[in-house]
Amino acid sequence: MLHGTQTIGDNGNLWIGGVDTAKLAQVFGTPLYIYDTALIKEKIRTFKDAFAAYAHLDWQVAYASKAFSTVAMVQLVRDFGLSLDVVSGGELYTALKAGFPREKIHFNGNNKSDEELALALDAEIGAVIVDNFHELNTLERMCSARSQEMDILLRVTPGVEAHTHEFIMTGQDDTKFGFNLDNGSAEEAVRLAVQSPHLVPKGIHCHIGSQIFEPEAFVQAIRTVYRYAGEWKERVGFVMDVLNVGGGFGIRYTAADHPLSVKQYIDPIVAATKSASRDHGLPVPAIWIEPGRSIVGEAGTTLYTLGSSKEIPGVRKYISVDGGMADNIRPALYQADYESVVANRASEPADETVTVAGKCCETGDVLIKNAKVPKTSTSGDLLAVFCTGAYGYSMASHYNRLPNPAVVFVEEGEATLVVRRESYADLIRNDLPLKTLSCHE
Ligand code: LLP
Repeated sequence: MLHGTQTIGDNGNLWIGGVDTAKLAQVFGTPLYIYDTALIKEKIRTFKDAFAAYAHLDWQVAYASKAFSTVAMVQLVRDFGLSLDVVSGGELYTALKAGFPREKIHFNGNNKSDEELALALDAEIGAVIVDNFHELNTLERMCSARSQEMDILLRVTPGVEAHTHEFIMTGQDDTKFGFNLDNGSAEEAVRLAVQSPHLVPKGIHCHIGSQIFEPEAFVQAIRTVYRYAGEWKERVGFVMDVLNVGGGFGIRYTAADHPLSVKQYIDPIVAATKSASRDHGLPVPAIWIEPGRSIVGEAGTTLYTLGSSKEIPGVRKYISVDGGMADNIRPALYQADYESVVANRASEPADETVTVAGKCCETGDVLIKNAKVPKTSTSGDLLAVFCTGAYGYSMASHYNRLPNPAVVFVEEGEATLVVRRESYADLIRNDLPLKTLSCHE
């Protein structure tokens, strides 16, 4: 199934952004991460339009950069006016180096180090999303030492667990993230934040899961937050200026996925927030969201070269590619499904079922269990795996000392290299010879 600007050219090859993928393989080599930037822009626009439909609503869409963070990607997000969610010093550093407006950066995470918080305070970012009491104390102490104020949101756990088409109300959460609502931790955190001389509590944050296809899960999370937060004006003198409902909007990895339109998520989120505010006699807060996968997932394609194959009669046929779990850990880690096409035979009938294996020394390094390919496919052909734009590059490893692939952006017939392919020399760049070991009593 094709996405965005993908087409099958007259030459029978897969084209993306007006560029022949065979040409991309020739110029940049494989494995190669290819991003259809027109599709990324379209996704961004869709989120912005869904909110812009509400005249008097204050909102922010923060791209969750954990899905795919590079300098060029952050700059694209900057140019299209989104905010940015970072979850580590590394993502924050990338954002700052990319020239992202600091006041539109939000910092999430359950164990931010003092060093990371210092980087955020130095940069005077827009908001820190405080996850626990340790962080609340540390941040107050650091702000006090610097005589600096910082806007914060407090992350809470509304007890909604959303997984694809189902969600469950768990009530009491068992998660490392956030303040529990049920046991009073969240209210205690709000009380401390309100009393804090340097922290400015702007609002509440929650994130309920990934690949959510059920908008009702967001609605339930919002209602639960209000069940508690609705009382906090009276009880602790706190009114939410901001409600951040996180990310998790589902995408179409395979034909089996049927995601809703962005509007079908945003409308119920806005409606639930408005009605809960009305019910509690509170002003409607600004609504923030943090989509990652839904901005970049479908826009990314990984291009591999086919190498060896192995047929086990009556069992299956394996075909191996020149990458695998090092550039896409999701099938091995989450049993994630992907679709593919032999990019230089895209117009031929895909009449054979094969298992696409990676090249890592691990039996579980299988990218696609039952891929359809033309019978004629052979070593040297190109395999394009679709929908690898989120959590592919960002979760890549050097397992088996495989260098990380290059990343190209394609649009309107042009390809731009945005991350160079790693070399073997890059792999040992920080290695030191045995003799330099020096730590004596
Ligand atoms: N906000 C927060 C607080 C999050 O924890 C996440 C994802 C997001 C936003 C963005 O969620 P998205 O819109 O991308 O679903 N590695 C896994 C996904 C882990 C997501 C963790 N948090 C995967 O490959 O599916």
